[in-house]
Amino acid sequence: MNAESQNKKKEYAADISSIKEARIRIRPFIHETPVFSSETINAASGKRLFFKCECFQKGGAFKIRGACNAIYSLDEGEAAKGVVTHSSGNHAAALSLAAKLRGIPAYIVIPENAPKCKVENVIRYGGQIIWSKATIQSRESVAARVMQETGALLIHPYNDGRIISGQGTISLELLEQVPQLDTLIVPISGGGLISGISVAAKAINPAIRIFAAEPKGANDVAMSKAAGKIVTLPETTTIADGLRAFLGDLTWPIVRDLVDDVITVEDTEIIEAMRLCLEILKVVVEPSGAIGLAAVLSDSFKQNPSWKDCNSIGIILSGGNVDLGMLWNSYKK
Ligand SMILES: Cc1ncc(COP(=O)(O)O)c(C=O)c1O
Repeated sequence: MNAESQNKKKEYAADISSIKEARIRIRPFIHETPVFSSETINAASGKRLFFKCECFQKGGAFKIRGACNAIYSLDEGEAAKGVVTHSSGNHAAALSLAAKLRGIPAYIVIPENAPKCKVENVIRYGGQIIWSKATIQSRESVAARVMQETGALLIHPYNDGRIISGQGTISLELLEQVPQLDTLIVPISGGGLISGISVAAKAINPAIRIFAAEPKGANDVAMSKAAGKIVTLPETTTIADGLRAFLGDLTWPIVRDLVDDVITVEDTEIIEAMRLCLEILKVVVEPSGAIGLAAVLSDSFKQNPSWKDCNSIGIILSGGNVDLGMLWNSYKK
């Protein structure tokens, strides 16, 4: 490694040692998820595909890895006061579950318009709900008030080194399960998942190619990579409700340096990928979790200059928390 890349490495919020430490820390609390493959889907894609089934993870998504790493990194005094978040998606459920495992409170600020299934997940895992208005300002100010009143610590869903390191444990497992992978395709939103995965995977195999998969209606990462700086969008429209956040100052440098390219897909391609997961793999995957399969089957990927060099591809099926009513309606359309 030359001096320049060594310096770059120092900037990152996670490295291979923090990810290995995370693996030891969270091992008692999470599942080592299986890897599935299907000859039918291989034939459709013309590649060998290996699906890392984080939809079978505790809480139904990879988020428990980062949440457990963050919560079990706290000292006794910090932990006793509890944790808080104002994200209402899979991170909220994972933080609730991880806090319950450690026996500490989790305060979850949820906007009054949040989908019912997300609220139910938080309740199921023992999070204490505090309602806010739908705006980000209201969510942030309610979270700030909770922190002041309780002393609880804010655990950000992706812009946090402990979260990034926890998510990176997926690569350690996956590259032991399928060492011959030459490419990974990873859903991206705020970039915590892909940051951890890229740091670990490239430390193990510097030649491995990493693609981010994002919806066309929330294509801020493709725009950020093109602009060389974080780009945010005035609004996002996609069925993938977990993929609407923007990069943070800790995830951006990793995405900028280690993610080779971004594949953007239409919502219709995501729905088709969900259908294949159900019909062929027999696995329930939420829209944000199915986007990697949508990407590998897309024309956008086939037109990518590296397409011909991608042969054994790992795809992260990142979550399975699907609202069945929504799924049914989108199939009927
Ligand atoms: C199922 C699922 N996949 C992928 C992501 C993206 O993760 P990140 O924000 O770390 O990029 C999320 C985020 O909420 C998610 O819920």
